Amino acid sequence: MKNRDERCDIKLKTEIIGNSDVIIKLLKDITKIARAEAPVLISGESGTGKELIAKAIHENNPRRANHPFVVLNCGAIPSELLESELFGHVKGAFTGAEKCAIGRIAAADGGTLFLDEIADLPMSQQGKLLRFLQEGSIDPVGASKVKKVNVRVIAASHVKLETAVSNNEFREDLFFRLNVLNLHSPRLAERQGDIETLAYHYLNAFLSTTVTPARNFSNDALIALSCHSWPGNVRELMNRIQKALVMCEGKLLEPDDLGLCIPDRYANAEVIDLESARQAAEKKALKSALEHAGNNISQAARALSVSRMTLYRLLDKHKLRI
Ligand SMILES: Nc1ncnc2c1ncn2[C@@H]1O[C@H](COP(=O)(O)OP(=O)(O)O)[C@@H](O)[C@H]1O
Ligand SMILES: [Mg+2]
Repeated sequence: MKNRDERCDIKLKTEIIGNSDVIIKLLKDITKIARAEAPVLISGESGTGKELIAKAIHENNPRRANHPFVVLNCGAIPSELLESELFGHVKGAFTGAEKCAIGRIAAADGGTLFLDEIADLPMSQQGKLLRFLQEGSIDPVGASKVKKVNVRVIAASHVKLETAVSNNEFREDLFFRLNVLNLHSPRLAERQGDIETLAYHYLNAFLSTTVTPARNFSNDALIALSCHSWPGNVRELMNRIQKALVMCEGKLLEPDDLGLCIPDRYANAEVIDLESARQAAEKKALKSALEHAGNNISQAARALSVSRMTLYRLLDKHKLRI
């Protein structure tokens, strides 16, 4: 319970879920960083919640929270459009520029600009971004004078920027300018204690919007969730639960529905808790009786010394199909 209490002590407005040690540490660091104004660089694998971290930094900065939080994914915009997307342009600056556009930096004035996948920012734009970070002004495409803006920049990258710098793909001076404050977003597998909490969060969230017979996870499903390595992190967890709810046929989501399996050490474990052991033994007995009886219900029921009705009920309970 220690971590739950610690989490309650942290007064941070955020959608980040979790009570694991790494999340408690992250939330404490966000609290400190949110008060500051310097740029922040967030590292961490895809799907670990880097955008949620950036949003929390913005929303907990008392001077900026009521101003815009603007997101730009540098990898999602064709490089020839990036300059005008970032810095804006004046009318007639280039073919097709029928109106002036203010660009994302100016749109974030007073607030925060989150530059996701910053390693994808082409070299041609890196110098311009550096100038904006140093001088606090932008130079819209085709404009004759610069424009002062007050924007805090938070950048994120799933590739190590140090590596991009040593490969001459990212300017070292820009890296240092962005990396004044830094945070690391932990992998889901490093946050074992949070997997079940997040799983129930998404189960409940999707239950209200999905047509599904499912109401809960089976014990096996909870074991499978905690044993998986989660290369796609929280985004993968969310997607697996969403898909399982659509495709499942019973009241309990099984490992199969989630596209996961239970490692042998659990399937054959000598000691789990007594109830799980009992359920596992029951399921095993049902499977083997059916197999021996060639799926003949009356014969399997006799072998198990139960009525046919009881056997049907047990098959239903264990999601066994003939
Ligand atoms: N700790 C967390 N608590 C709640 N939701 C999370 C958490 N981490 C990630 N998510 C969710 O997972 C998805 C991916 O997060 P995102 O911030 O886009 O990841 P990244 O930018 O690192 O790829 C989002 O829907 C986000 O809301
Ligand atoms: Mg992202």
